[in-house]
Amino acid sequence: MIVIHSVAQMQQYARDKRGEIALVPTMGYLHEGHASLMVEARKRAKYVVASIFVNPTQFGVNEDLDSYPRDLEHDKEIAEKAGVDVIFAPTAADMYPEGYQSYLNVEEITAHLCGASRPGHFRGVTTVVAKLFNIVAPKVALFGKKDFQQLAVIRRMVRDFNFDIEIVGMPIVREADGLAMSSRNTKLSPVEREQALCLSRSIAAAKAAFKGGERSVAALQKVAAAMIEGEKSPQIDYLEFRDQDSLLPLEKADERTLLALAVRVGSVRLIDNSILGED
Ligand code: PAJ
Repeated sequence: MIVIHSVAQMQQYARDKRGEIALVPTMGYLHEGHASLMVEARKRAKYVVASIFVNPTQFGVNEDLDSYPRDLEHDKEIAEKAGVDVIFAPTAADMYPEGYQSYLNVEEITAHLCGASRPGHFRGVTTVVAKLFNIVAPKVALFGKKDFQQLAVIRRMVRDFNFDIEIVGMPIVREADGLAMSSRNTKLSPVEREQALCLSRSIAAAKAAFKGGERSVAALQKVAAAMIEGEKSPQIDYLEFRDQDSLLPLEKADERTLLALAVRVGSVRLIDNSILGED
């Protein structure tokens, strides 16, 4: 495995291996969720590139850009084990040089859910992912369903901008107790770590009610919210039942309905989601 820090060097590699690269974009502090994407990437192309870049343009002014966890040495071990050929870890100055002024924005689908609570977030995500697509020139790129809206936004961008890249969505990897893996989990205190289980419990409660025949979104919302409101500290940012393609609100739920939620536990904002009819 090699580590490339320069954009120009990455482009040279991509030129030589064109049509044979699978890309896994990440912000590092890798865990098993990221590794699952890399292992799948290994099966889908001759060369696997994992990017590690804490992208400043997707963080709001009061968000955790400076405190976002970083550990390149540990990331190298995980990526190597998962079969990655190249870690692309550019500097912010190389990605956004002096005078930078071009952004890519996907409109309607970014207006709600995480887009509503984090204005400008998806503009930063689509901008950096489009840049990574151009630099690495992959034939396939893999993203986790943990960030369900992000995956939907990237699929939209790829269609709208005619990127000739297959987008693969991968299942959420969870800790044994149900908490969805996230680089931000390491910022939780032991008490908050326990409280963070309210996200997966909320999903489980909604799914149980759905299995029991409840189809009213208003009723399902109450059941799911009760699991979080029962906790002292966690605050719901959003808890929504949506159409999984358009991400628009629904009144009646069915097997394909997406339950997506964002909850603040202490200073950490966690997200989770699930499709009601899936296990
Ligand atoms: P990051 O949060 O590091 O996530 C990188 C990729 O790993 C994303 O596609 C995300 O959905 C996936 N992932 C994270 N946790 C996961 C889990 N528990 N199970 C499965 N997949 C998981 O998402 C980003 O970085 C950035 O926004 C990025 C796309 C790299 C653009 O900067």
